[in-house]
Amino acid sequence: MQHTILFASGKGGVGKSTAACGIGKALAAAGKKTLIVDCDAALNSVKVLLQCSESCVFNWLDVWQGRVEAAAAITEAAENLWVLSAPVSPPPAGAGHAVAEALKAFGEDAFDLILLDAPAGIDAGLKRAAEPADSALVVATADTISVHAALQTDRTLAAAGIKHTRLLINRYSVRAARKGQYLSLTRMIDSSEMPLIGVIPEDKALTYASVVEPDGKRSKSAEAFERIAKRIQGEHVPLTRALLR
Ligand SMILES: Nc1ncnc2c1ncn2[C@@H]1O[C@H](COP(=O)(O)OP(=O)(O)OP(=O)(O)O)[C@@H](O)[C@H]1O
Ligand SMILES: [Mg+2]
Repeated sequence: MQHTILFASGKGGVGKSTAACGIGKALAAAGKKTLIVDCDAALNSVKVLLQCSESCVFNWLDVWQGRVEAAAAITEAAENLWVLSAPVSPPPAGAGHAVAEALKAFGEDAFDLILLDAPAGIDAGLKRAAEPADSALVVATADTISVHAALQTDRTLAAAGIKHTRLLINRYSVRAARKGQYLSLTRMIDSSEMPLIGVIPEDKALTYASVVEPDGKRSKSAEAFERIAKRIQGEHVPLTRALLR
C-alpha cells in the first residue's frame, strides 16, 4: 500500500531536503518505487540535490491547474526514484490544496512511497505539504532552537490531523555531544516528545556533493539513510553502538 511521508522541521536549513533525497535514494535502491515531491516553491532544491534540474520541466501546480497530465509531470532521477518539482514562484492564493489534489491524479497506488519535502515554517506552506501525508518525520539538529521548532512543528502537524510523527536527528556528532557542544540523543528525544526514527551524522560529503556520490564512493551518511529507509519499511534496525556510548 502506498505510504506518504512528510519531511518537516519548522526551522529552516536543518536538512529536510537532504534527508528526503538521501532516504528516497535508499528506498529506491531497495526496490521501492519512490516519488519525492518538492513542496518548497521558493527553493525547489530536490531536483538540484538529485542532479536532474534540466529534465524537471513541470511541477505540481501545472498538474493541479490542468496544464499537464500527472504522469508527464514527473522526472526519473534514478531507477525507481521520481521527482515532482515545485513551481519556481510562490503559488497563487487558493492553491492551498494543490499538492494533495495533484497527487490524487496519480491514483492511489502509483508508488510504494511518496516523500513530501516541506518548506521551512509552520504556516500555509507546511499545511499544503502536510495535507496528503500519512505520517511525518520531523528533522532537527542537536541544538535547543531546532528541537524547540521540532516540538512546535509536531504540535502543528497534530492539529492538522497527522498523529504519527517521528524525530529525525541530522548533522549529529558523537564527539561534539560528548564535549557538551551538542544536545545528547536522550535530551533531544525528551524535549521533542517524539520517538526517534534515526540519526544522520555530520557528513562533509553531503555539503560538497549533494546526495549523489561523485565517484561512486559511499558517503558516511549513506549507511544512515539506508538504516532509516529500512525502519520506514518496518524492519527493526537498532541504533549503532557508537551513538549510545
Ligand atoms: N548531515 C549533514 N552533514 C553535513 N551537511 C549537511 C547535512 N545535512 C544537510 N547538510 C547541509 O545543510 C544545508 C541545508 O540542507 P537542506 O537544504 O537539506 O536543509 P533544509 O531543511 O531542506 O533547508 P530549507 O529549510 O531551506 O528547505 C545544505 O548545505 C546541506 O548540504
Ligand atoms: Mg529544503
